[in-house]
Amino acid sequence: MSDAIAVDYDGLIPNNVGLNADPRLRRALESWHPGCIDWWKERGPEGFQQNLVYLRTAVSVEPEGWARFGYVKMPDYRWGILLAPTVDGRTIPFGAHKGEPAWQEVPGEYRAMLRRLIVVQGDTEPASVEQQRILGRTAPSLYDLRNLFQVNVEEARHLWAMVYLLQKYFGRDGREEAEDLLRRRSGDQDSPRLLGAFNEATPDWLAFFMFTFFTDRDGKMQLHALAQSGFDPLSRTCRFMLTEEAHHMFVGQSGVGRIIERTCAAMREAGIADPSDIERVRALGVVDLPTLQKRMNLHFSLTLDLFGNEVSTNAANAFNAGLKGRYLEDQIDDDHRLVDATYPVLRLRDGAIVGEALPALSGLNMRLRDDYVADAQSGVERWWNRIIQRAGFDYRLKLPHVAFHRHIGEFARVHADPDGKLLSADDWRRRRDEFLPSAADDAFVASLMQPVTEPGRFASWIAPPRAGIDNKPGDFEYVKLAE
Ligand SMILES: [Fe+2]
Ligand SMILES: [Fe+2]
Repeated sequence: MSDAIAVDYDGLIPNNVGLNADPRLRRALESWHPGCIDWWKERGPEGFQQNLVYLRTAVSVEPEGWARFGYVKMPDYRWGILLAPTVDGRTIPFGAHKGEPAWQEVPGEYRAMLRRLIVVQGDTEPASVEQQRILGRTAPSLYDLRNLFQVNVEEARHLWAMVYLLQKYFGRDGREEAEDLLRRRSGDQDSPRLLGAFNEATPDWLAFFMFTFFTDRDGKMQLHALAQSGFDPLSRTCRFMLTEEAHHMFVGQSGVGRIIERTCAAMREAGIADPSDIERVRALGVVDLPTLQKRMNLHFSLTLDLFGNEVSTNAANAFNAGLKGRYLEDQIDDDHRLVDATYPVLRLRDGAIVGEALPALSGLNMRLRDDYVADAQSGVERWWNRIIQRAGFDYRLKLPHVAFHRHIGEFARVHADPDGKLLSADDWRRRRDEFLPSAADDAFVASLMQPVTEPGRFASWIAPPRAGIDNKPGDFEYVKLAE
C-alpha cells in the first residue's frame, strides 16, 4: 500500500493527502473546521446530535473494504479528505490538451473556470443536508433514520472534499469561497444555494427518497464528468466520492421500492385491482401509485434543470479546456475533441418540439442529461416497475418528457404534459394537479409521516428492507435514542 492510499486518522482531519507535510494547508483547514461544525449543528440534522448512530466511516480508498462501521455521535464523525490513488502516467483524456500529462497544479489560464466548477459542485453538498434537516423526527424506522444520517454525514464529507481543493489550490480566493459555502443557505431569500433544485424543500420521506434517487443521480453524473478531469486532484477526489454516492442512490431506489412493495401488498390484501382507486388505497394507510407518479414527475423535472441550457458555451469551454468531460469519457470510442462532431438535441421550433443536430461541443449538457435520463429510466424499470409487475398490477411508472415542467432552457417558456404534448397556459393551470402533487396529495403524504422508533418496526406505508446495513439483523438498534 502506498502512502497515498493509507489514511492518517491521527490528526483533527483524517486524510490520505499528506496533510502533516503541508502545515500551511493544515492550518487553513483547521481554521475552517470550527465554522463547519457550527454549520452542522445549526443547519445539519435537527435533533439526534447527541445520539449514537451506526455509521460507516471510510478508512481506506481501496475499492473493497474501505468502510468501518460503528456507533458515533454525528458531530464527532471523522470527516476526512480522501482521494482515490494516483494513476501512473495519467494523461488528459479529452479536449484541446488531450494526451498531455494530467495537471497536478491548476492551469493558470483555466483557473477561474476550474474554481467555478468546484464551487458549484461544492455548494450542492451542504445544500442537501440543509434540505433534509427536519426529516429525523418523522423517520419510518431506525433503519431509515440511520440511512438518512449516513447520507447527511457523507454529503458533509463531500463538502470537505471540495473545500480541500479550494484551500490547497486556490489561495486566498479559495479560502473565501470555502467560507461562502458555509454562508449560503438552502431556500434562503438573500443568500440561496447556487442551483434551483437545491433550494426546494424536502418536506417528507417520500421527497427524501425521490431526491436521493433523482437528484443524487444528477450528482453521480456530474461527478463522473469531473472524474474525467485533466486536473488530477479533482479527478481523484470525484472518483472516491462516487463510491459513496452509490449508497445515496441505493437509499432512494430501495426506499421508493419498499413503498411500492407495501402499497401493492396492501392493495392485494384488500382485493383492490385498480391502482387508480386512490381513495380506497389511501384508506389502507399506504401511498397510492398515482401519487408516486406525480412525485416522480416533480423530482425528475426539477433535477433536469440542473443540467443547464441545451446550448451551452460554458460546457463547450470546460470540455475544450480538459476540465469537465463526458459521462464515461474514457470508454467512448471517438476522437475526444469533438471539433467537427454533432449531437442531436430537442429544441422548440415554431411551437413544436423537434430534434436538431447541434455542434457536439455546444450540446454537451444535453449529452450528460441524456445519459442521466437513460440511467434513471433503467432504475425505474429495474427497481420499481418490476415490483408492480410481480405483484400483478397493470400499472407502469413513467419518466415524464424532458419538456415537462421545466424552468431552465428551451422548454422553460412553454407548458407541456408528461407526454411532451404542448399545452396552453390555461390548459396547464387547469390540469396541473393531474401531473404534479396537489396540496391535497401532499397533505395526505404528510399525514402518513408518523415516526416509528422501536427497533425492527416500520411505518404502515413502507416495507422492511431485504437485508440490514452491515448484515445486521432486522431488530438492530441503528440509532440509540435513549441518552
Ligand atoms: Fe455528494
Ligand atoms: Fe449524494
